[in-house]
Amino acid sequence: MNIEKIFSNNKKWIEERLQIDENYFKNLSSGQKPEILYIGCSDSRVSAEELMGVGPGDVFVHRNIANMVPNTDLNVMSVINYAVTHLKVKHLVICGHYYCGGVKAAMQSEDLGLLNPWLRNIRDVYRLHKSELNLIACEDEKYNRLVELNVQEQCINVLKTADVQKALLEKRITVHGWVWDIHSGKLIDLKIDFEKILEDIREIYRLHS
Ligand code: CO
Repeated sequence: MNIEKIFSNNKKWIEERLQIDENYFKNLSSGQKPEILYIGCSDSRVSAEELMGVGPGDVFVHRNIANMVPNTDLNVMSVINYAVTHLKVKHLVICGHYYCGGVKAAMQSEDLGLLNPWLRNIRDVYRLHKSELNLIACEDEKYNRLVELNVQEQCINVLKTADVQKALLEKRITVHGWVWDIHSGKLIDLKIDFEKILEDIREIYRLHS
């Protein structure tokens, strides 16, 4: 990748945008009102806006290794707080992807130094779903399933936050768990039944009475 090419690409992009709408940047600079918060993986192949076919201003985006929502991560927690409580997004999406290097790394016995505590969160997802995962003989299938279960658990982590609980009580947000299939380019809605999952645990994590 040629760095200078990036700047000439940018110039070309500005011209293209202004040809379609001469007020394009003027409108963009007036503020943002995205309706979706997207939390996805940092993987260079999983470009959030492009795979959803959306442009600047449409989606508030947070990306990290393996689309995680750890309770102690001030970064993702600040993003959720700002998007849900201030921008008042209507949809919160956790989007994982098959062939996720972060999930793969967590399935292996290897000391990865600074990455260990981050990947530990994925190992905890494995532990929670060990009985289901260990029934899958095919390693690739098990890997794909862990990607899906990780999305499910990160959605549950989102539901544990006070901001999302409040937004749910006010009926102004919906949480979605998606997986992007790199192999086909297809975006898949996991259609997670949160009501069923929360049935047993809601009282434990409830922050609003
Ligand atoms: Co990934």
